[in-house]
Amino acid sequence: MSDVLSPAEKEKSSAAKTAADTIESGMKVGLGTGSTTAWLIKHLALIMREKGLRIEAAATSVQTANLALRLGIKVKALDEIGCLDLTIDGADEFDNQLNLIKGGGGALLREKIIARASEQMIVIADPSKDVNNLGKFPLPVEVIPFGFASSQSLIKKTLGDIGYHDAKLVVREKNGKRFVTDEGNQILDLYLDKISDPLDLSQRLNEIPGVVENGL
Ligand code: A5P
Repeated sequence: MSDVLSPAEKEKSSAAKTAADTIESGMKVGLGTGSTTAWLIKHLALIMREKGLRIEAAATSVQTANLALRLGIKVKALDEIGCLDLTIDGADEFDNQLNLIKGGGGALLREKIIARASEQMIVIADPSKDVNNLGKFPLPVEVIPFGFASSQSLIKKTLGDIGYHDAKLVVREKNGKRFVTDEGNQILDLYLDKISDPLDLSQRLNEIPGVVENGL
């Protein structure tokens, strides 16, 4: 499967295969979103065909559900399955404490819900995601459409209050239009450069009423 791949794709595929190999028949599995997770779904589909593995799967995005279904993996609603044994998902950055930035693909909300419904989580990432400090990758924050500009101002103020004076907030767009998440919300990408206390920042952002979730 990996003969003509770039080094980065080989690394993604290899991480994904290692994770796919941990899945056992009968497991309830959460499937993440992104290019690394796409490899996981391909490997998993192959293993299911070759070994007759049977699982119940829940997807973290419409994109993932569509890919899984195309490859013959049936996807159920999370509430139909209930608790999950394992979720496997990608990341945009990870540090040596295993703090993560997620949400580069805009699926952070469903990703967090699925992850919290799981006994275990495996994060698959190539070495380019390994950083000393989180923050070079813009931190995605999912904001509801009502009062979006007010929420944006509050986020800016909150960031200023805790020392991120130069933070740049960018409304995410796709194909020239505001990006809309699977839950009908919008994404603000926060350019922070260096995040000193991920837990504190995450809690402060999530206290802002229009914020649904952030990618930390
Ligand atoms: C999706 O919203 C993200 O959290 C992804 O898991 C993350 O962006 C990693 O994506 P790649 O595997 O495409 O780098």
